[in-house]
Amino acid sequence: MDIVFATNNKNKLKEIRNILDKSINIISLEEIGCRDDIPETQDTLEGNAAQKARYIYEKYGKNCFADDTGLEVEALNNEPGVYSARYAGEKCLAEDNIIKLLKNLEGIENRKAQFRTSICLIINGEEFFFNGDVQGDILCEEHGIDGFGYDPIFKPLGYEISFAEMDMKEKNKISHRGKACIKLAEYLNKL
Ligand code: IMP
Repeated sequence: MDIVFATNNKNKLKEIRNILDKSINIISLEEIGCRDDIPETQDTLEGNAAQKARYIYEKYGKNCFADDTGLEVEALNNEPGVYSARYAGEKCLAEDNIIKLLKNLEGIENRKAQFRTSICLIINGEEFFFNGDVQGDILCEEHGIDGFGYDPIFKPLGYEISFAEMDMKEKNKISHRGKACIKLAEYLNKL
């Protein structure tokens, strides 16, 4: 079975291909010739994941799925949430987002946060959602150089190291996206 994953992110493609049966062929946006800037204008993760998946399904008529992730910080009313990628402004760097987040948390004792991922799958026009989350704390400074985004300042609950200090395989086992991908894979592997 062919399914389009609405992404060109090589890490995400590798991650999902690793946990799916070989009978499911994951196709990237590049492989279907889609170079569009797919709109992500909703104010929830679920809404954005659905918006991206529907865009592909409607334009290409192919079974597909899309994901959206946000970091929710308790003391900041769950910000940056759906705006995690552009917290410090449109086209900002991950480093700018980290600096802004650490500044906004200066002097605040409650460092609790969670990453949440929502995946929307569309099969023959029917929509299914798969979610994953991981709880943790925002560190006061950056630790580690691996990973991406907010990894250097996120310490998952029960660990003494940040996501950026963790081996990728270990991170995928406990991460928001890893958990959502496993649920998606369990569903697809049964089809
Ligand atoms: P996306 O929806 O997967 O593109 O994620 C949106 C933003 O959330 C990214 O630009 C990152 O800033 C952040 N993010 C998503 N997943 C992770 C992660 O696993 N670690 C750190 N930051 C992440």
